Amino acid sequence: MSRFLLAVGFSLCLLITVVSAETVFFTDEATQTTSTPTTVASGGSLTECALKCKLQFLKGCSAAAFVSGTQKCLLADTTNADFPGGVAVRKQAASTQDPVQIEGRTFKIIQHRSKGLLSFGRGWTEYEDGFGDETDFWIGLRKIHQLTGSSPKLLRVEAVTWSDELYVCEYSGFTVADASTNYTMTYTSYLSGSSNTTTDSLADNKGKQFSTIDRDNNQ
Ligand SMILES: *[C@@H]1O[C@H](CO)[C@@H](O)[C@H](O)[C@H]1NC(C)=O
Ligand SMILES: *[C@@H]1O[C@H](CO)[C@@H](O)[C@H](O)[C@H]1NC(C)=O
Repeated sequence: MSRFLLAVGFSLCLLITVVSAETVFFTDEATQTTSTPTTVASGGSLTECALKCKLQFLKGCSAAAFVSGTQKCLLADTTNADFPGGVAVRKQAASTQDPVQIEGRTFKIIQHRSKGLLSFGRGWTEYEDGFGDETDFWIGLRKIHQLTGSSPKLLRVEAVTWSDELYVCEYSGFTVADASTNYTMTYTSYLSGSSNTTTDSLADNKGKQFSTIDRDNNQ
């Protein structure tokens, strides 16, 4: 499995379908200035204002505040908007760890490599726990097992070549078993109809345990 990940190219992400996406907000003390244009809507609480923002009362709404004196919601289209007092909620900056929509389906990214700065030559413990940052990361075998162990998922692999061509392949029934099996990976089939890679590059790793530089479980 890791051999494949390292082989396919420079910019690569592995995606797994998940059932639903959530918009994540975090709370934050609002500042006292009003430098950002906002839309005003009626509202009775911060929660209601956050909901109005999420439901896009303002196109591209990214932050909301509740003004208790006037019982109004202030909605802004930038996350770092300044509000005149009160407490604001702001959408978390988009991160590659957030679910993404592709052709009407929602995917959770399990690995992303774009800049080539993050080393993927790591040991067993790090592959189990996960590593990286918001942009480039491996979410970890334990999490991948949680996502796919009892309900196999559709796996999508995207690879971008140095000349900027995108190659896609999809697999049905992707599942990674638990630590007691050394995270054995398998899948039902390579979906040639939704793939434009010439071969099934995962075939050699089907039914195999996970291996890392310090722990070869497939000798
Ligand atoms: C492969 O398929 C994807 C998704 O359909 C498409 O965007 C991409 O351009 C295709 N790549 C090539 C090299 O044809
Ligand atoms: C998992 O890997 C360890 C270390 O390589 C090995 O000793 C153990 O037998 C493997 N477990 C299974 C179920 O094969």
